[in-house]
Amino acid sequence: MIEFKNVKKVYEDGTEAINGIDLMIPEGKLVALIGPSGCGKTTTMKMINKLIGLTSGTITINGKDISEKDEVELRRNIGYVIQRIGLLPHMTIEENISLIPKLKGWKKEKYENRVEELMNLVGLEPGIYRKKYPLELSGGQQQRVGVIRALAAEPPIILMDEPFSALDPISREQLQNELKHIQNSIHKTIVFVTHDIDEALKLADEIAVMKDGRIEQIATPVELISSPANEFVRSFIGEHRLNVGNKEKSVADIMDDNPVFQHYEESEYETISLDATLSEAAGLFVSKEPHVLVVTKDGKHIGSVSRSDILHAVASENRREAQS
Ligand SMILES: Nc1ncnc2c1ncn2[C@@H]1O[C@H](COP(=O)(O)OP(=O)(O)O)[C@@H](O)[C@H]1O
Ligand SMILES: [Mg+2]
Repeated sequence: MIEFKNVKKVYEDGTEAINGIDLMIPEGKLVALIGPSGCGKTTTMKMINKLIGLTSGTITINGKDISEKDEVELRRNIGYVIQRIGLLPHMTIEENISLIPKLKGWKKEKYENRVEELMNLVGLEPGIYRKKYPLELSGGQQQRVGVIRALAAEPPIILMDEPFSALDPISREQLQNELKHIQNSIHKTIVFVTHDIDEALKLADEIAVMKDGRIEQIATPVELISSPANEFVRSFIGEHRLNVGNKEKSVADIMDDNPVFQHYEESEYETISLDATLSEAAGLFVSKEPHVLVVTKDGKHIGSVSRSDILHAVASENRREAQS
């Protein structure tokens, strides 16, 4: 767990970048920092691995004040991915990925296996790509390498600063899906900076909306779209995302009709009507199970939907709307 207590940052030139933030990033969760350019996202993130020093307040990792930690050691245990990944151009993909494991003294066999495993995880065939150089790969492939390089030494914490924002929309969506998939199995503590609200809604367990060096609201994606704390948050999310209830799509459109619950007790699950709107469905998930059963008017169970399906549908509706 990473905890900020009344953290402030004033740059040398007097810029008050962070004006006293309190923030808790739970173990194993992906927390997105979002807000307009200049609101302090990058500053907040870089204070965690001490690329930027704080002016006052404290940041702790698992209860230990980072001011007492050696920064080189700290950074070896915190993966870092940025927008234009600093892959080292004169090193092969394999050498780039194994850099930190080697610094940590891993044996050759162990890091070679790790490189292979990670490349497979993101669909980069090791036989084809391990000996290539970064510039021989597409932007999307390079960014994949940036992500797996950050995972290579199995750091408990990963910082990602707009990692996908320089990619074309298709690569971006693919990498988002891959990250989500990976996170579902590795459960790292991830701080993810983005200015793209749809990306945050799709990936984050919690979203911190920032403005002028402060946090305006911290909430789950569903809470954020169902009850934004103030006008700023409302307008940042965008009116059309808030009014998901006005969309024609219903649970029937996104339901998984392969019964996923093989051995379930119906009484253990919430149910939702087939014709419920996505916003009604989203409302149900604020504090509930990750799945609900879909029932017809006469109460017959015909499928299920998950929280992530609903958020995904809301996000892709938004994209469709934005394009039309
Ligand atoms: N090295 C610096 N010196 C002075 N001001 C800075 C420095 N880095 C960032 N700032 C200022 O601090 C504020 C927050 O910047 P930043 O954290 O980069 O915002 P974001 O990542 O949300 O766009 C901005 O006003 C920015 O101009
Ligand atoms: Mg930034």
